[in-house]
Amino acid sequence: MNIGVVGAGYVGLVTAVCLAEVGHNLKVVEVNAEKVEKLNNGECTIYEAGLTELLQNNIQAGRLNFTNHLTDMINDCEAIFLCVGTPPKEDGSADLSQIEAAVKEIVAQSNEGQYKLIVVKSTVPVGTADWLKEIVSSHATGRQVIEIASNPEFLREGVAVNDFMEPDRIILGVSSIEGKRLLEKLYEPFACPKIITDSNTAEVIKYAANSFLATKISFINMVSDLCEEVAADVSQVAEGMGYDKRIGPEFLKAGIGFGGSCFPKDLSAFLHVGQARGLNFGLLEQVISVNEERPARIQKKIESLVGPLKGKTIAFLGLAFKANTDDVRESPSAKLAALLKKEDVTIRATDPMASANFKAMYAPLAQSMDFFESAEETLKGSDCAVILTDWEHYKAIDWNKIKTIMNRAAVVDARNLYTEQNLRQLGYSYAGVGKEL
Ligand code: UGA
Repeated sequence: MNIGVVGAGYVGLVTAVCLAEVGHNLKVVEVNAEKVEKLNNGECTIYEAGLTELLQNNIQAGRLNFTNHLTDMINDCEAIFLCVGTPPKEDGSADLSQIEAAVKEIVAQSNEGQYKLIVVKSTVPVGTADWLKEIVSSHATGRQVIEIASNPEFLREGVAVNDFMEPDRIILGVSSIEGKRLLEKLYEPFACPKIITDSNTAEVIKYAANSFLATKISFINMVSDLCEEVAADVSQVAEGMGYDKRIGPEFLKAGIGFGGSCFPKDLSAFLHVGQARGLNFGLLEQVISVNEERPARIQKKIESLVGPLKGKTIAFLGLAFKANTDDVRESPSAKLAALLKKEDVTIRATDPMASANFKAMYAPLAQSMDFFESAEETLKGSDCAVILTDWEHYKAIDWNKIKTIMNRAAVVDARNLYTEQNLRQLGYSYAGVGKEL
């Protein structure tokens, strides 16, 4: 099938590359000319495991190309995926101007009589597809047949290719028989449950799924605080809960809380959606509030190991909001850094991938921090190491050797990375999350 994608950001790029990989012909429109050139040359513009190879293979196979002009693809494609950004506006609501502009242009340029399906993949407020349907009907000429569908994505950064190729489910919010047939054919290569529903239900599924996952995280973080009080171990509590199939083991890792470009934004948006209709969505307020308290709790753990913070040197291992990504949006590390800076702390920081993004996104804060390539260099002369991102290779740090270069042998493990190594036996004062202090 010939398929278009508008927006070569994170979602658009992964969607296009993976749909090409299963045999469709993809044209991707992106406004940034430099990006288009790089992508057409097989240069991947985001870091995502396995994506570069698939990008290059599919360009070579002639199934994937990138362009600056929407008009280049409108009439060649049966379905056009909208994967443009929906950044939050100042009042917290989503800015839908890019989606609106794309829909208007598609309507203006579409041939009459030819059926076309516009598929919204960007995460959008409930009711957006209905609003776009009104835009289509007020701008289309009588003989244009353009339908709007909603097909939310559930990709996780770092494992997005795998999540796309082997999804748990596919949600198709589409109403006409023609639209349903088209999307079923398009997704035929993917063997997973496919839920065909209306666009409002599809939009609610996306927000509800992210909000539920975030709720699990805040729940276990709340429980972990209790575990610290009563000398219980939250990892075992999570294991004990997780074997119950109704609960499941995933997203029960206690730590410094969730960050990233999705959970914080989607939770606020879902809360807004519920409250705007006069509903009691206070549960989500609590999920957000538990999460917002996490960095301050980690700060207290540092204090409990090293005493008053003023004048201390703290080493941050990890700046990305989670492992295997260079993304620092809503990173808990930035929140902790801001708290520590108020206490006149010197921060030395490292991350295998995210330092450059951190410096760019948190410019004034980052200017007051020192950045290093290796964990070893970062830890030199520090009073406490704080594990902030769950990078696997931090597990391999030789803490016995490191003890000789740190000013004080202290580790706050904000990700419970060292469940198997006993740093206390090596002479460290150590604090994990949700375990006896
Ligand atoms: C999340 C969802 O998992 C995806 O399904 C969804 O498509 C995506 O948002 C989106 O809406 O675009 P992502 O933000 O990439 O994906 O990251 P996750 O792996 O879900 O992690 C989110 C945050 O929760 C991270 O900060 C992570 O460290 C934290 N987390 C996760 C925990 O603190 N504990 C856990 O047990 C799991």
